[in-house]
Amino acid sequence: MTSDLARRFPSGFLWGSATAAYQIEGAAREDGKGPSIWDTFCRRPGAIATGEVGDVSCDHYHRWREDVALMRELGLGAYRFSISWPRVLPEGRGAVNDRGLAFYDALVDALLAIGVRPFVTLYHWDLPQSLQDRGGWSEPDTVAAFGEYAALVAERLGDRVTDWMTLNEPEVVAFAGHHSGVHAPGVRDFPTALRVSHQLHRAHRAGAAAIRAARPGARVGIALNMSPCEAASADPADAAAATRMDGYLNRWFADPVFGRPYPSDMLEHYARWVRIPPLDLQPQAPDFLGVNYYSRRVCRAGGDDPLGVVRMQPEGSSYTAMEWEVHAASLRDLLVRVTHEWQPPSVIVTENGAAYDDVVRGDRVTDPERTSFLSEHIAAAADALDAGVPLRGYFVWTLMDNFEWAHGTSKRFGLVHVDYATQRRRVKDSGRWYRDLIAARRAVPV
Ligand code: FCB
Repeated sequence: MTSDLARRFPSGFLWGSATAAYQIEGAAREDGKGPSIWDTFCRRPGAIATGEVGDVSCDHYHRWREDVALMRELGLGAYRFSISWPRVLPEGRGAVNDRGLAFYDALVDALLAIGVRPFVTLYHWDLPQSLQDRGGWSEPDTVAAFGEYAALVAERLGDRVTDWMTLNEPEVVAFAGHHSGVHAPGVRDFPTALRVSHQLHRAHRAGAAAIRAARPGARVGIALNMSPCEAASADPADAAAATRMDGYLNRWFADPVFGRPYPSDMLEHYARWVRIPPLDLQPQAPDFLGVNYYSRRVCRAGGDDPLGVVRMQPEGSSYTAMEWEVHAASLRDLLVRVTHEWQPPSVIVTENGAAYDDVVRGDRVTDPERTSFLSEHIAAAADALDAGVPLRGYFVWTLMDNFEWAHGTSKRFGLVHVDYATQRRRVKDSGRWYRDLIAARRAVPV
């Protein structure tokens, strides 16, 4: 029952959905936007499973009014979106593209006009290509450029936007972008990936400092992709593999964000490839920790990856269209662990959701698996609240089907279905369910 679930959340809890600029905006070369590394990467043969590019995607750049109206229809209290860095600074630094800033200006105004609180991510993976040409995230200059960009956007939007995330999923940026090479810029070099992770930590600190300098009242966080890491068996080698995976995925990123040094076991493990120096910039304690959660990791020792970990797909579990195991209890466990271990002042689930092959029949889009995924995970979020987690909000990934990186438009995560041939949007059954949940919470007497 949606009303029973809704009652488990306090009034004022933020119900939102999330998107990212490259995945929805399109308008890749319009109004002065410069190219990003994703514009380049998609043109590399074989990079995108479907052979697509994100030049148009959901065409949100032109249809944003319609999309804001959808948010109103769903009754969202918050919306997380990202700024395209090359749309506002086509070369990454220097000349400002005012038309790009004006787009986000108008979007923020439209959100506030209907009572939707904007949560802005500064970097959701679309680095300006000209910065990549000068070495990208392995270069300290890119960190300096990120600080300037953060200051510019905070200056422009910070009179209305109060909630900021510097980076989305630095682990993915570093390792999918520079080790496996399945994401832009498509580099395959483990030491480079490690160096990039270090510069991303510096970028978070530089960016957070710049936002706070420009807007002293701002709430600044970061969105980390985190997962509980479990051993596949009682074998001590598997336990050690799970600890390494946890070090790689969770502690390598969360420890420095909370002002601690890099975890020593991982520094030691990585020393075979590169020695990572201590972080130099002042730590910037987050006002909230954004947690992106999709699945747990079940680990076995072995394989030829530098971590020496093989990720298992437990039998008997159900899987999404991404072949990610559905495991809602891990969301509760993760939120409880994060609270105990790093003690963030508040926590927000900044992404959670699932891809399925939805069935479209006329006006209806039937997606019962997504509805049950969301209801199980939202119940797990309520369990976390019961356990004392300072959880303030939950954002579904994602508002509408969009360009899912290396999968192109083949994987659909939306609450709203997008017909890419016509750009028609249809609210899915899961979207209606989410709308009813939000409405049910509003109806609970305070
Ligand atoms: C996350 C990304 C988001 C989307 C979801 C499915 O890793 O932050 O852009 O791709 O996965």
